[in-house]
Amino acid sequence: MSHAMPHHAEHSRGIHIHPSILSADFARLAEELARIRNADAVHVDVMDNHFVPNLTLGLPVVQAIRRATDLPLDVHLMIQDADRWAPAYAEAGAESVTFHAEAAGAPLRLARELRSHGAKAGMALKPATAVEPYLDLLEELDLLLLMTVEPGFGGQPFLDVVLPKIRRAREALDGSGVPVALQVDGGVTRDTIMRAAEAGADVFVAGSAVYGAEDPEAAIDELRSAPLR
Ligand code: DX5
Ligand code: ZN
Repeated sequence: MSHAMPHHAEHSRGIHIHPSILSADFARLAEELARIRNADAVHVDVMDNHFVPNLTLGLPVVQAIRRATDLPLDVHLMIQDADRWAPAYAEAGAESVTFHAEAAGAPLRLARELRSHGAKAGMALKPATAVEPYLDLLEELDLLLLMTVEPGFGGQPFLDVVLPKIRRAREALDGSGVPVALQVDGGVTRDTIMRAAEAGADVFVAGSAVYGAEDPEAAIDELRSAPLR
């Protein structure tokens, strides 16, 4: 293999920023969506108080969000029994629907079902879940989400312990050549996004780093250019 790659080589994949509305004001969602017009998609965290110890929103609110913005919806399901509930989010018009491997009985069948509804199929792994058992499934997926916090809450610190897994996933993706987006979610800031991008991620979810900022669109631009500096 090659030695020193040009410094910018790892960024040729591009940097996609998906703000998480978990950190937005839920009573003013339409206005909050209008504050992130330069985002690549809006990340919607669905939690059921069973898979994670928190409860957020479900299908009716996702349908309302679909009507309230032109941005693509990146739905992240942190719910048990994903096999049963996930397809309805694809039918609701989500561009991508991501289920947790830990919560899916038949991830392969579910991924195919999501695609059959016209959505991109995403699969998420909690920080302590190894990626290796799932590498043969990659061609059935459009998106692999590696959580960089324990799912459930915004505002937690980025877990650097996940970086080697991001690197291994990137190597597997590059080796197989399948076009799967590699997303990280949790604790993404102007600082940590550089490490995640260097490890090989190309889609970055950011909740508090965007909605905690005075100007969310400026925060998105700063995150997008941070790994390029
Ligand atoms: C956590 C959610 C994240 C959360 C990220 O379980 O999946 O999407 O909104 O928030 P920050 O960016 O504040 O860690
Ligand atoms: Zn999320």
